[in-house]
Formats: sequence, structure tokens, C-alpha cells
Amino acid sequence: MSASYEVRGAVAVITLNNPPINGLGHETRKAVAEGVEKAEDDPAVKAIVITGAGKAFSGGADIREFGSPKALAEPNLLSLIARVEGASKPVVAAVHTVCMGGGLELALGCHYRVASSGASIALPEVKLGILPGAGGTQRLPRAIGVEPALNMIVSGEPVKSEQLALIPGQKLFDRVFERDFMDSAIAFANEIAAVRPLPMVRDIKCKHPEGDAYFGFARNTAKAMAKNFPAPARCVDCVEQATKAKFEDGLKYEREAFAALMLTPESKALRHAFFAERAASKVPDIPEDTPVRPIARVAIIGAGTMGGGIAMNFLNAGIPVVLLEMKQEALDKGLGIIRKNYEAQVKKGKLKEDKYAERMALLSTTLSYDDLRDADLAIEAVFEEIGVKQKVFEQLDAVMKPGAILASNTSTLDLDRIAAFTKRPQDVIGMHFFSPANVMKLLEVVRGAKTAPDVLMTVMKLGKAIRKTCVVSGVCDGFIGNRMIEQYSRQAGFLLDEGCTPQQVDKAVEKFGFAMGPFRMGDLAGNDIGWAIRKRRYVEKPGQRYSKTADLLCELGRFGQKTGAGWYDYVPGKRDAIPSRLVEDMLVKHREALGIAPRKIGDDEIVHRLVYALVNEGAHIVEEGIALRASDIDMVYLTGYGFPLWRGGPMNYADTVGLWNVAQAMKKFAKNPADDQAFWQPAPLLARLAAEGRSFS
Ligand code: NAI
Repeated sequence: MSASYEVRGAVAVITLNNPPINGLGHETRKAVAEGVEKAEDDPAVKAIVITGAGKAFSGGADIREFGSPKALAEPNLLSLIARVEGASKPVVAAVHTVCMGGGLELALGCHYRVASSGASIALPEVKLGILPGAGGTQRLPRAIGVEPALNMIVSGEPVKSEQLALIPGQKLFDRVFERDFMDSAIAFANEIAAVRPLPMVRDIKCKHPEGDAYFGFARNTAKAMAKNFPAPARCVDCVEQATKAKFEDGLKYEREAFAALMLTPESKALRHAFFAERAASKVPDIPEDTPVRPIARVAIIGAGTMGGGIAMNFLNAGIPVVLLEMKQEALDKGLGIIRKNYEAQVKKGKLKEDKYAERMALLSTTLSYDDLRDADLAIEAVFEEIGVKQKVFEQLDAVMKPGAILASNTSTLDLDRIAAFTKRPQDVIGMHFFSPANVMKLLEVVRGAKTAPDVLMTVMKLGKAIRKTCVVSGVCDGFIGNRMIEQYSRQAGFLLDEGCTPQQVDKAVEKFGFAMGPFRMGDLAGNDIGWAIRKRRYVEKPGQRYSKTADLLCELGRFGQKTGAGWYDYVPGKRDAIPSRLVEDMLVKHREALGIAPRKIGDDEIVHRLVYALVNEGAHIVEEGIALRASDIDMVYLTGYGFPLWRGGPMNYADTVGLWNVAQAMKKFAKNPADDQAFWQPAPLLARLAAEGRSFS
């Protein structure tokens, strides 16, 4: 069923019914139009109420129809709204719980609107890089005034119905009801049934006293705040039209702006990310309704950098945590850092004192494994040494109750080996958080060879509850994100060999939109981490070539910010990266020793070599089944590695460039004598897709 129809006295009630959020898909739109017609034809009906079944009036467009011809099939949203607005009997929108996007546009096309208090009202289209395209930018300013409307349209953020009802002179809600919502709505419909002419939002005058000055200011602000996204400024243009043009012309203007934005790479990237996030939560071989294990209490082993941050995630979600360390000093230190983090939030006004106290009350500490017996999940975040992990997992296996989940936050060790330290490998899983763990959105959920399906689904669901973006990864060295970044770092090293400076590479990459270039990132994370990995690689993969530059840097003790010097120089107490004379001299000598004549390398080449290094490794990862889909890789890079959102992640970016073009560029790079030919051997999946003219998506 897509919408139901019933007559209650003199009022016809049309109830949208398209779970989960009454999306305005084709069937639903058709059913509403038919309902209006039926009500018009029934002499006993004097007024019409449109409402929504379940937990929404309507969340807007049906995302399942995105990009399909059904989205435009008649009645499309615009024609449905025109039909409702032109009805011969009054139509009342009875808005409750959630009314967003197309749902709000439909309500604005009704003659009257009543709302339940507490309903979330929004036009969130801007978050997908578009704008409300069914009259939202023309009607909302008429209903609540230019400034409040523009704020809602440019931010996409929801506002509560009762707050909107407080706007002086607003005509959005005729009534807001606190209880007996449907009865009150029907009573209201009876009350206005005989009023003529039928009021229409489109007829309301819409002006701003400062006109041009205001819109000029608003446009500049939107551009400055959303530098890389064109939609917010276009929203300003449309709202300006609402104040200047005739209603029909404004609608046309809005329609054209909407259509143009749909075609921008930025909007495509945002929509890609939106769908990628949804896809990432699905595991093809595990039914979505798999029963999950209850997680009411979490144990965390190790209160260091990661353990403390991980704990905060659960405390924030109201889940009690017990933190275990070997020594009291380590516990005190870890606890101190958690306190400091929360206190900083309190200071900034981001956290209320009582909430802070509530969260800390959920946290207990211990030196004894006996205190972990009640925990449903243990997350290990101790030193990255297999012997240490072994001891911890053996102890967990001995004390944790049957059915408890044992997770490791390891970034490089073999999860299957860790699972084998226990008698319950089916209950062992990887939960790879990113630093700072209380801030970073990404959680790689590592599925071991023996991890039980319900354990995986439990952790995915729990990840969502602590507001992480979960991406499933198979077991391999570095999982998805770090395995790819290793190739990116290798390539960054080759760029130095050939003549780039660290600052030149960082600048090019940051201009492309990365939060941070590879060398600033190395200085922040600690260059010694990569050094340790390379030393291992020299033994494990003697054929794999690396630039020596990073080793030379580490031999000088320049590990980065923590040692006061790295690829850049640092002034004590500050984080500004200052280009280093010493590093430049080091690079010059290094090139001389190798007999390389330095070459000037343009920004495009720098960026493409680095990004295609990610893409090629990403293709291997998809082909090996380590990632379930290419879009999962994009989620990893968007949420864990600062890849520019408006480019939609490395794999989406490669699709935008065209895989054939990517493969051609790689061929060219391979011919460069100072680069590594083996490095640019295209992954079989990439080569195949490029040859067939296909894309990752
Ligand atoms: P850390 O050195 O800051 O903290 C480790 C903590 O574990 C220390 O407080 C130590 O006292 C404690 N510990 C050591 N052995 C223990 C034992 N047997 N029982 C109880 N506590 C013990 O290390 P960090 O950075 O927090 O890393 C922890 C784990 O997280 C490692 O596996 C690491 O690979 C992984 N990881 C680290 C990331 C990072 O950016 N630092 C990112 C993602 C994962």
C-alpha cells in the first residue's frame, strides 16, 4: 500500500503509507492524486487531510527511485503539488514526527498545515549537493520569511515544529497540537471547510527590507562556508528569486538550478557517499535480520592513546565501560586524558557539566581480569606486539562469559592468529578505530576467517550506535585503509627522489582537497611508524622498492612533531610546519648519490600519481574480496583519511576521470625511469574495467 483513503464524517483522510519514512515514490504520489480526486467527487466530503502512517509525515523523495525514470513519472512531485494546491476543496497537511524535503514541499502546497509538537522539519537537499526542486525555495520563504527560510535551506538542518510556529507572522503552521493529534487535525479541517477563497502559500508576498545587500551578503557567506560546493550559493539565488520574480518564474528558476546542480560532480560525489554509507552496512552473505547479541557492558584492555578514545565512544552512547591496565599509574594516566578531553568539551560549551558527570559515572577501572566477567564485549588496545596480544587474549578467553565478543584494535597483526589464541575464534573480531578514536568516524570491522556472522552483525550495529561509519574488511596486512596508504606513501617517496620537496607535494595534495598532505601527515603520526613497517617489508618483500628518503630522515631522529622535527621544522609549542633547509639539503645529496637529475613536477602529476596509487591498490583489495565493494573503499577514505568529500573518495574520483584515462596515465608513469615500473602494473580488475569501458560503480 502506498497511501490509504478513508472518510471520517465530512473529512477525507489520505494517509501516506510507504515505509520506512513514507517516501514520495511514484505509487504513493499516484495514490495521493487519486485520493484528492475521489474526495473532490464525493459530495459528502468538505475537506481533505493528508498525513503519514507510522513514524513520519514524509521524509521526502523515495531514495530507491533516485536516478530511475520512476522519479519523474507522472504525477511527479511538482505536478502532484500543483494538483493538491489546485484542489476544489481545502487540503490540510497534518504534519507529525518527520517532515522533510519533498514531504515539506507537499505540505507547503496544501492550503493549511497543522503540526504535532516536536516534529522535525527540514529541507535537507543541500546535503546531497542539490536544492529543493519542487517549490521549496519559493514557498518556504513566503511561509516563514526570507531569513529563517534561507537558514533552513542552506544548512539543511531540521528545526522543531513548535520553534517554527514561534516565528512572528509565520504562515507555515496554522496550529501546533501537543496531543490528540489526528482528532485535532480533523476538527481543524471541519472548522475551515467552508472558508473561501482557499489560501495558497504561493500568493503570500515575499520581500526582504535590505534586498540586494542581504542577498549579496548571504551569497558571499554561503560561498565562503561551502567553498567546494556550489549548491548553497544556488539556494541563495533561488530564495532571492522568491522575492523578485513572479511565483511561476521563480519555480522555473528553481527547477533549472536544481537540474544544473544534479549534474555537478560535487552533487554526484555527495550522492555517491550517501549511498555508499548505506551500502557499507550490508554484508551480502549475512541476512539483515540476523539476531544480534546484546551489548550492555564493554571492557577495554589498555588505557593508552586508543583505549581512552575508544572508551569515550561508549560512554557518550550511555554504555558502561570497564577499563583494564596492568599498572595503576597507567590507569590514572588514561583516566586523566579522558577527563581532560571531556573538560575541554565542557569549556567550549559542547558538553554540559551534568552530562560530563553522567558519562564519567559509567566508567570504572580495574587491574584485575576478574572484573571483566560481566562484559558482553572486550576490546583490546594494548601494545602492537603479538606476544602481548597473546597473553591478553588467553586471559580474556579464561574469564569472559560464553557468548561475549572479543575484539582487537590491532592495525597490523594477523587477526586470525589472534583468534587462534582463544578457544572461541568464532567470537573474535577486529574493531580497528582511527586516532583520535573519540573523533574519527571510521571503524574498520575486521572479519576473521572464523568470525561468526552474528558477531559481525552485532559489531556493525554497535558501531552505528556509537555513531561510527562501519566498513567491513577482510584480514590482510593493513586492512583496507592502511594497506592503500602504504602505496601512497611509497609513491610520495619516489616524488622526492625525482625532485619534489615535501612542501610542494603537500601543497598540491591539499589543493586537491585532502585535509593534509603525506609529509605533514607523517610528521603528525610519527615517521617512526612507517620506518618500523618498512624494516619489516625489507625482509618480507625484498623485491618491493622504496625511496630511501624516509629512512634517511628517521636516521636523523626526525620522527615528526613529537621530536620537534620531521619533514618540516617546528617551533616548540606550535604545530606550524616550517619548510626545512636541512631536509632540502638531505634530498639534494640523496639525488646526487643516486645520480638523478631533479625534474620539475607539476601539481597534476603529483596528485595523480598519489591518488592512482590508492586506486590501484584499492582495485586489488576489491578483487581479493578484502573490501566487499569499491564504494566501501571510498567510505574508508572519506571518513578516515581526509579525502575530499566533494570528490567522493578515490574510487569514485577514478570513475569520474574514467578508468581508461587512469590506466593510460599509469602506463605513462611506468615509463618514467625514476619511478617504479612494477608499481604501475595495473591491478587486473582495473585493467579489465578500463578495457571494457566500465567503472568501479
Ligand atoms: P599506547 O602505547 O598508547 O597504549 C597501549 C596501552 O596498553 C598502554 O597504556 C599500556 O600500558 C597498555 N598495555 C600494554 N600491555 C598491556 C597488558 N598486557 N594489559 C593491559 N594493558 C596493557 O598504544 P596505542 O597507540 O593506544 O595502540 C594500541 C593498539 O591500537 C595497538 O594495537 C595499535 O596498533 C592500535 N592502533 C593504534 C592507532 C594509533 O593511531 N595510535 C590507530 C589504530 C590502531
